Amino acid sequence: MSLAGRHILSIDQFNRSELERILEVAHTLEPVARRQYRCDALDGAVMANLFFEASTRTRISFHTAFSRLGGRVCDTTGFTFSSLSKGESLEDTARVISGYADAIVMRHPETGSVAQFAKGIRVPVINAGDGTGEHPSQALLDYYTIDSEFRRLGKSIDGMTIALVGDLKHGRTIHSLCRLLRLFRNITFHFIAPPALAAPQELLDSLKAAGHHVHEFASISIGLPGADVIYATRIQRERIEGGEEMEGYSEDYRINRVAIENHAEKDVVIMHPLPRDGRPGAFDLATDLDDLPNLAIFRQADNGVTMRMAIFAMVLDVHENIDRHFHKRHGYRPRRYSDHDADFYQLD
Ligand code: NCD
Repeated sequence: MSLAGRHILSIDQFNRSELERILEVAHTLEPVARRQYRCDALDGAVMANLFFEASTRTRISFHTAFSRLGGRVCDTTGFTFSSLSKGESLEDTARVISGYADAIVMRHPETGSVAQFAKGIRVPVINAGDGTGEHPSQALLDYYTIDSEFRRLGKSIDGMTIALVGDLKHGRTIHSLCRLLRLFRNITFHFIAPPALAAPQELLDSLKAAGHHVHEFASISIGLPGADVIYATRIQRERIEGGEEMEGYSEDYRINRVAIENHAEKDVVIMHPLPRDGRPGAFDLATDLDDLPNLAIFRQADNGVTMRMAIFAMVLDVHENIDRHFHKRHGYRPRRYSDHDADFYQLD
């Protein structure tokens, strides 16, 4: 199977063996992501990182991933600093940039816009989030995270129970992750949200049609028990006009220490794509969970670099025997700055 030259626009374009291959490539690249080796597999390549919507970790982790493979990156952020603000069409921008870059990463507020951009372009385009549509690289890194956490726990994704909490209507990470999990067997989904923020019916129907078990709950006290993974999300306020749709979302939906102690399994893996909304009334994942070992959110964010390296290696076709391009580091070496870093980078 080959992802060479393909755009990564939707999680629906993958089958299970492709997912497993990406995971293998990500594992091979871990020592480079952890900065134990330098890699020059993409020496001479240029990536254009085009972000027309707010982003911190996705933009920086795509940039870091390409750089760690030895390539260079050009960034543009926001409409103000791009020619789209001068009335240029997405098609023209695409034709021009594909003459400069070997790969393009794009985030845009309109659903379907990245696919429109990718039409007729000669280099791989990766969708880094298109409105409420999809976020395939996030789903892949979430899959990588669940797989890594489950390896430690001796669990498998087939047969697991996942509780998804928060803005299930507008959250594109939820949509992409559920579509990815559809490729596994016998998964139980607990969707926990007030009716105004419920997951799209079409998504629920497609999970049921693939043989999974789908339950909707309006309370965490009945939705969390039995879950192997809790995936919490932020209310996507920027996608909600007027705020009426948030109706019914309250403190009762907040995943905090008390909720975990009272309703969750002891070894539950707690995930969130981040950012967490810490503003009053947001009721997002609470910071009183931060010292729980099963809070995987920062490992999940770290995994973004590794998985995005694997995506680039595969679409640019340098993944076979990529370890031939690993070299000893002669310059800067990662040092121990905190206990958290030490664990991730396997430092003493
Ligand atoms: C998510 C996104 O942009 O969809 N963030 C991310 O990419 N890690 C989730 C969010 O913004 O809530």
